[in-house]
Amino acid sequence: MILMNDFRRQWADAAPDFRRALDRTGASGWYILGREVERFERSLAAAWGLPHAVGVASGLDAIEIGLRILGCRAGDRVLTAPVSAFATALAVLRAGGVPVFAPCSPNGLADLDACAEILERDPSIRFFVPVHLYGHCLDLDRLAAIAARGVRMVEDCAQSILARWNGRPCGTAGEAAAASFYPTKNLGALGDGGALLTRDEDLAAQARCWRDYGQQGKYHHIVAGLNSRLDELQAAFLAEAGLPRLEKWTARRRAIARAYIEGIRHPEVEIPAAAPGSDSVWHLFPVLVPDGAKEHFRRHMEQCGVQTAEHYPLPLFDQPAMREARHELAGDPEPARRFCRREVSLPIHPYLADDEVQAVIEAANRWAGAQQAARAKG
Ligand SMILES: Cc1ncc(COP(=O)(O)O)c(C=O)c1O
Repeated sequence: MILMNDFRRQWADAAPDFRRALDRTGASGWYILGREVERFERSLAAAWGLPHAVGVASGLDAIEIGLRILGCRAGDRVLTAPVSAFATALAVLRAGGVPVFAPCSPNGLADLDACAEILERDPSIRFFVPVHLYGHCLDLDRLAAIAARGVRMVEDCAQSILARWNGRPCGTAGEAAAASFYPTKNLGALGDGGALLTRDEDLAAQARCWRDYGQQGKYHHIVAGLNSRLDELQAAFLAEAGLPRLEKWTARRRAIARAYIEGIRHPEVEIPAAAPGSDSVWHLFPVLVPDGAKEHFRRHMEQCGVQTAEHYPLPLFDQPAMREARHELAGDPEPARRFCRREVSLPIHPYLADDEVQAVIEAANRWAGAQQAARAKG
C-alpha cells in the first residue's frame, strides 16, 4: 500500500540523527526548557526569517497563546477559515473567542476578498486567524493590508512552513505565526510540538511567559498561563534530524506535486489551484471529484494500492462540537460544504519513490468516473 505518511522510511533515513539527539539530551540531565529548546528556537527563527521563535507544546497552543497575547478576551469575535483542522477553531474557543467562519474559495482556502469586506463592514471583529491550508501561501499583501487597518492576526502556518508569497515567507504579514510539529507536518517531531514566531520582542517574551504557567521569573506568576512547553527531547529531534532536512523534504514534496499536476489527466479529477503568487510547500495534495463520487474514488484508489484521506470531511462549523460552541457564519456555508464533500487527499510525503508517484497518477487516471460511481450506488 502506498501510504499517506511513512514514518518507518523517515526513521530508516534519519535514525542516527535522532539517536544523537536522544543521547545528547539524556546525558545533559536537563529535560524541560533548556539548551535544546533555545538552540532549536534560534535555528527555526533563522530558517523562517523572523527574529523570535517560542517553542510550545502544539500548534493548537501556539494559536491560542498568539491570540491571548494579542489581547483576545472572552466574547471577542475572531474571523477564521471555514475549512481547516479542528485545532484552528478550538484554539479560538480556548482563547475565549467566538469563531466567525469566513466564506470558502474554490480551492478550499478562505476567500480573502470576502474577509477584507467582512472586516471593513464590521470593525468589532478585531482578530483574524487566516490559515495557509495545504501548504499554500495566502496572499500576504492582502493580509498585510488587513493587519494595517488594526486587525490583530495570528497566521496559522501549521501546514505551511517555508511557504512563500512572491518570495516572502508565510507568517510575516501579521504580528504572530503559529507552527505545528505534529509528526505528519512538513517539519515533524517524534511526538507533539509547536512554536509561535514573531518579530516583536515583547510578544515573544509574553509567549514565553504564557507557555510556562504565566511565570516571569521563578514562581512569580503574572498571568494564569498554560503548561505548554516544547520538550527538550522533541526540540533536539527537530534541530538534529528535522530542520537540516527540511529544504530537501520540501523540494521533494514540490517535485511530487509537479508530477501529479502534469500527470493526472482525468476529466473528473480536478486539482484546485493555489493563488499565482503562492510558492506552496504541499503539505497535502487535495483533488476534487464530482459531488457524490468521493467514496467510489477512494475505494478505487485503495483497490489500486493507494491510501487516501480527507482534509476535511466537514467544514469547521458543521463539526458536532460546534453545536455547543458559540460561533458565527459570515456568508454562505454551502461552498465550504460542497468543497468538503468533494475533497480527497493523495499521498505526498517526501519518502515516496518515483514509481509510487507514477502508480498514484495511473490509479487516478484509471478511475471509471462519476457515472460509474452513481451506478454502483444504484
Ligand atoms: C491547519 C492546522 N492548524 C492547527 C493545527 C494544530 O496543530 P497541532 O496538531 O500541533 O496542535 C494543525 C495540525 O493538526 C493544522 O493542520
